[in-house]
Amino acid sequence: MKNLLNVLRSDEVDTGLIQVIETIINASKEIAFRVRQGALAGVLGSTQDENVQGETQKQLDVISNQLLKDLLLACPQIASLASEEEDTVVAANPGGKYVVAFDPLDGSSNIDINGQIGTIFSIYRALDSIPHDSELQFNQQGSQQACAGYVLYGPSTLLAITTGAAVTAKKVTRCFTLDATQGTFLLTADNIKIAKETQEFAINMSNSRFWNEDMRCYIDDLILGETGPRQKRYNMRWNAAMVGDVHRVLTRGGIFLYPSDNRNAKQPAKLRLLYEANPMALLIENAGGKSWSEQQRTLDIQPKQLHERVAVILGSANEVDECLGYLHAHS
Ligand code: F6P
Repeated sequence: MKNLLNVLRSDEVDTGLIQVIETIINASKEIAFRVRQGALAGVLGSTQDENVQGETQKQLDVISNQLLKDLLLACPQIASLASEEEDTVVAANPGGKYVVAFDPLDGSSNIDINGQIGTIFSIYRALDSIPHDSELQFNQQGSQQACAGYVLYGPSTLLAITTGAAVTAKKVTRCFTLDATQGTFLLTADNIKIAKETQEFAINMSNSRFWNEDMRCYIDDLILGETGPRQKRYNMRWNAAMVGDVHRVLTRGGIFLYPSDNRNAKQPAKLRLLYEANPMALLIENAGGKSWSEQQRTLDIQPKQLHERVAVILGSANEVDECLGYLHAHS
């Protein structure tokens, strides 16, 4: 079986970018070890603090963020970092060629129940025209990502990864599984292709009264199944961790939605553009799927601020189109 390094080298990925990817992977192996040890490593439970998003931080959020930060700051290829758990950009090395945005531990509410959680990352080339530690380094559209991926800490530890068009002509999403006996990620799914059609959807149904009418109508029609206009029966799954839900979509197709809602006037969407929506969108598109943020392709969104949130609709291409048809009919 090929390992991650061999695959990146055979794709002729820049050696500097390979170093950045390896650094993230090394941090994720440390996180995977602590996740496996669970209560034995004293990593469960909450801290007394809130992050910049006003959410209670879990011990493992803080530990994972620190592990990633420590290793990435020591990597000379990195100019600066943006983390979901940090208020502002973290300056790294002025000569660094890349900037990294990450969600150190996605799906925090699953930590204490031994459910799926993961690390999501997104790598861009640093912009020469902007100071290395400026927030503007991260105002790049998702289509500019040099590499994106996640490490899923589930029954096995998996890496889903893809590189951007600017890096290699190959637009391929692959999966690697951590061989814990050797500490190496081995290629277990090459050139993943998401089925265009699906009968499975993922959405937090408890928010339905806060959605707009079109979104409610789309989901109502899925629930009507073969008795409604879609004329096929749908099943629903919800992991409450985007990594788990997106991994299922990559593996067997489906549609994942976190639409905008009116729960909180100041915050109409939940998922973060830089740390969640963009990296997942590149993985999904490079596997033949689609990712939209209701009115716009996710990868075309021009970021305006670090912790910006967007609606997310991604997965099997034809199903995403169906959903967008409902939303755009009245726009
Ligand atoms: O943004 C973090 C996150 O945990 C995602 O991973 C997940 O999809 C979503 O929030 C879960 O939200 P909810 O609490 O509405 O189920």
